[in-house]
Amino acid sequence: MHNTSERSSARAASAPAAAAGERLQWEARYRAFQSRDVSIDMTRGKPCAQQLSLSDALLGLPGRGGYVGEDGGDARNYYGGPLGLPEARRLFATMLGAPAEQVAVANNSSLALMHDMLAFALLHGVPGGTQPWTDETDRFLCPVPGYDRHFALCEAYDLEMLLVPMTGSGPDMAVVEELVRDPRVKGMWCVPVYSNPTGETYSEEVVQRLARMRTAAPDFRLFWDNAYAVHHLTDREEGVPSILALSEQAGHGDRPLVFGSTSKITFAGAGLGMVAASRTNLEWYARHAGVRSIGPDKLNQLRHVHLLRNHSGLLEHMNGHRAILAPKFALVEESLRRHLGGRGVATWTTPRGGYFVSLQVREGCARRVVELARQLGIVLVPAGKTYPLGHDPRDSNLRLAPSFPDIADLAVAMEGICLSILLACTEEPLP
Ligand SMILES: Cc1ncc(COP(=O)(O)O)c(C=O)c1O
Repeated sequence: MHNTSERSSARAASAPAAAAGERLQWEARYRAFQSRDVSIDMTRGKPCAQQLSLSDALLGLPGRGGYVGEDGGDARNYYGGPLGLPEARRLFATMLGAPAEQVAVANNSSLALMHDMLAFALLHGVPGGTQPWTDETDRFLCPVPGYDRHFALCEAYDLEMLLVPMTGSGPDMAVVEELVRDPRVKGMWCVPVYSNPTGETYSEEVVQRLARMRTAAPDFRLFWDNAYAVHHLTDREEGVPSILALSEQAGHGDRPLVFGSTSKITFAGAGLGMVAASRTNLEWYARHAGVRSIGPDKLNQLRHVHLLRNHSGLLEHMNGHRAILAPKFALVEESLRRHLGGRGVATWTTPRGGYFVSLQVREGCARRVVELARQLGIVLVPAGKTYPLGHDPRDSNLRLAPSFPDIADLAVAMEGICLSILLACTEEPLP
């Protein structure tokens, strides 16, 4: 998961200053790069057009006459309930680690589902709780670096965010177990497989401890965002045991809310979002979601069932993504090694799946790197975005999203990013 240079992060701060000659060379290369006409967006983990084309058959599905569900219902009409079509629920059950009866398939976004769950909890409370969650006192655990939109949800509803460091195999469980002794801690964000942005997968021990731990809040929830469950880049496919099954065994069946979507399987923002949960939680969700809408878009569900068919079909489809993405991630790794390896200025992750590479540059330098890259025409996600409130206390983490640019642009971008890192991290005299 983590390469040698990352493991040596402690040594980075004491690395020798760049020789003056080297630095002059980098400056000259940076200036030469500035005169090139470069405009590359490396901000968000968006699929590229070639990836989207893998699902173009969706544009013609379900086709004229293809609107009938397996139980004979007419998907053009109001039909079924808030939990989605049975064939769609079955399709995603294995991916979410739940029986189909515990899966709800909704509309186009898992983030929208997370939002709604949070809003329902704040408005009505969740099963097992005695009152609605409250924005005045309640708190959420936020593994860092993490996904900015999770943090944005807490920010939008004034939930206090408590930082938990990631370790390379999931969140630091000693910190988590200590923090959940506070009854005001109601939830925790988790991206258990190929985490955004570090790419790490939670170890079995971490998953077990999350399922078993004692929480002071009886209505504590794991917001288990398994966005990258099937997004492998190598033959060594990573995964986690079913958090639903483990929590159930530990007597905390209502603890996890497991989210997923096809945003990075079929069409981003035009696919399907889904959630798996205990029967009690699902009934709670259906009750509140049923007030908000008569039901989700069943035609889109049918389209997806026709395209992907079953879990094996889904995995086969993901091989197409891997063939496009793996060379891009290999290029990023190769560039980082070639330009930065052994220089003590940065460490980085080498993920086996997902959408991101996470970089730690010398403390206090991340913002400067983003600015220097911007002046070269390369847009990176603002430094700090991977932390709550956009504030990385060390100003050190950068998130690279290699999926969107084509491979030629990516090579150019990596050269510019590495030059920006070399300059930013050697600007100040080292202690
Ligand atoms: C961890 C994670 N969860 C959720 C999403 C968004 O998913 P959706 O498009 O289903 O709302 C993303 C998108 O980048 C993500 O990285």
